[in-house]
Amino acid sequence: MDTYSEEPATQHRATPIDTSAGALPRHVAIIMDGNGRWAIQHGMPRVLGHRQGVKALKPLVKECARLGIEVLTVYAFSTENWSRPAAEVNTLMSLLEEFLHQETPELKTEGVRIRTIGNISDLPEPAQNALAWARQETVNETRMVLNLALNYGGRDELVRAVNRWINDPSVPQTERKLDPGTLERYLDTAGLPDPDLLIRSSGELRLSNFLLWQLAYAEIYITDTLWPDFTAKEFSQALYTYQQRARRFGGLG
Ligand code: FPP
Repeated sequence: MDTYSEEPATQHRATPIDTSAGALPRHVAIIMDGNGRWAIQHGMPRVLGHRQGVKALKPLVKECARLGIEVLTVYAFSTENWSRPAAEVNTLMSLLEEFLHQETPELKTEGVRIRTIGNISDLPEPAQNALAWARQETVNETRMVLNLALNYGGRDELVRAVNRWINDPSVPQTERKLDPGTLERYLDTAGLPDPDLLIRSSGELRLSNFLLWQLAYAEIYITDTLWPDFTAKEFSQALYTYQQRARRFGGLG
């Protein structure tokens, strides 16, 4: 049920990226916040804000693929989101299934590989099945990764990683000393570069348990725009802002 009116497509079009203005990020992470407030502002139930939030995602995936951004990680459902009313949780799971079934074929033609982070085995079975199908369908795609954070929490990920390492029979008992490089191999994000840019919509100034290890040196772009209103044009603005930053990684640059 889509009762909202859509803006003309031209307003969503990205502005051209000036690649000479600086390197683009390899990995962009997004906290897609503000769906509920968007719905309330439009006199709709919260769940329609989430539906509109899903719509905002697709043009950004295409834009990342076009620009050669290797990974886009989106926070779709956190370990803390289970505390929301059951009807909202169920809607988010249904939207995930719908998104995967509708969009996977087109994402595949764009060369997008779908991956996940988070404790997927605790999601409802239909959502798990849809994810397994989408991951398998796109397993050979190499242009970019769309990484869905689902039932994801940074603390939960770190604890699961350490437990995986402790229980890994291939690690000799005598070598049981954890270092950052070893831990990274047990994280859900193993094999992916750390995010260079974190975008958070709706003006909130917090990490909300997102990628606590991986965001150590990410540049942060916060916008007051509510997630359903976040367009490819504003994505270009975030990328341009990133290009202007001097990254020093704790050194002197
Ligand atoms: C935060 O907005 C958003 C979420 C908790 C879920 C984000 C999920 C989507 C955009 C859709 C699902 C994604 C996929 C890939 C199918 P909020 O509800 O906390 O907003 P509020 O702070 O205004 O209440």
